Amino acid sequence: MNELMRRLELRVPVVQAPMAGGITTPELVAAVSEAGGLGSLGAAYLTPAQLVEAGAAVRALTARPFAVNLFVPALLPRVTPEEVAAAEAELAPLHAELGLPPPALPGRVQEDFEAQFRAVLELRPAALSFAFGRLGAGRIAALRGAGIMSIGTATSHTEAQALARDGVDAVVLQGNAAGGHRGGWAHDDLSELAFLIRRVTLSGRVPVIAAGGIMDAADVRAALGAGASLVQCGTAFLRAREAGTPAAYRSALAAAGPGATVLTRAFSGRPARGLANRVTAQLASPLPYPLQNALTRELRAAAARAGRAEFLSLWAGEGSARGQEGTASQILRTLWPGA
Ligand SMILES: Cc1cc2nc3c(=O)[nH]c(=O)nc-3n(C[C@H](O)[C@H](O)[C@H](O)COP(=O)(O)O)c2cc1C
Repeated sequence: MNELMRRLELRVPVVQAPMAGGITTPELVAAVSEAGGLGSLGAAYLTPAQLVEAGAAVRALTARPFAVNLFVPALLPRVTPEEVAAAEAELAPLHAELGLPPPALPGRVQEDFEAQFRAVLELRPAALSFAFGRLGAGRIAALRGAGIMSIGTATSHTEAQALARDGVDAVVLQGNAAGGHRGGWAHDDLSELAFLIRRVTLSGRVPVIAAGGIMDAADVRAALGAGASLVQCGTAFLRAREAGTPAAYRSALAAAGPGATVLTRAFSGRPARGLANRVTAQLASPLPYPLQNALTRELRAAAARAGRAEFLSLWAGEGSARGQEGTASQILRTLWPGA
């Protein structure tokens, strides 16, 4: 039992990763927390009202601690009309295939972060984890005042040190095998996980939550052995019964062999790891994040409705071929047999 486990009242040193976009349903979050791990609600794409509602739905299912996760916004990138037109033109044939009107960049490209942050303060989950940037000392102090732990995301030693200076309670360290978006903002080492854990824990400034490619009990033991306090697993929970993963996504995961993932900017404009498909192969000139993310939203929603995995963002880590179906608590037991 380490300090982080004690503070988060965990019986199992496993965090179920937040996965924005409807995968981390209240049912999944609650099932993991109820089984002794830390469930996390991926709330980056939720409105403040939806965030509070989802948090209440978790609380209706469990009295145990859980986390909420947000994306820290950056200044909106400047793009020329020609760049927008090029990205829209590349997407147009895919829209046509799904019977959608031609793509057009929406006016509103991301949620109101300040309002989301206020909703988190109101909800008071055990922890707020965040990716894509720094919250700053003021917001971290506000969280502490509300009894909410702050957990940043780093992809390198440099980013981990910056978060430690800001006063976060823990850092999620993403190794190169991790599924989903690269969560850093300044410098991505794309290092192998064990190397990254050793490098960051050596300085001992901040507890580490290790993420990326952790799919079974041996992986968990290796990460803890390298110095991590907890592990965070996303891909391992994608096929959980309680997860909101669409059927076509589940089938693609079940069929994926080793080496099926690529790092791509095609869907969102930020590098993310997922199963290769037509979008990752065909979209070569994406706009910067969050513009591309907003531009491809309609395609992804229509693809999910139509069950067309070739147009879905199939975020998954390099361990995806080792993923299993089951309930969240069964999956947690494969990660930590004592769960
Ligand atoms: C489908 C999917 C969605 C993700 N969404 C988020 C997110 O909303 N916020 C976040 O901080 N990390 C997100 N991640 C990254 C995870 O926090 C974690 O770093 C990653 O899943 C670890 O690698 P693994 O997938 O090999 O377990 C996502 C990962 C996946 C697979």
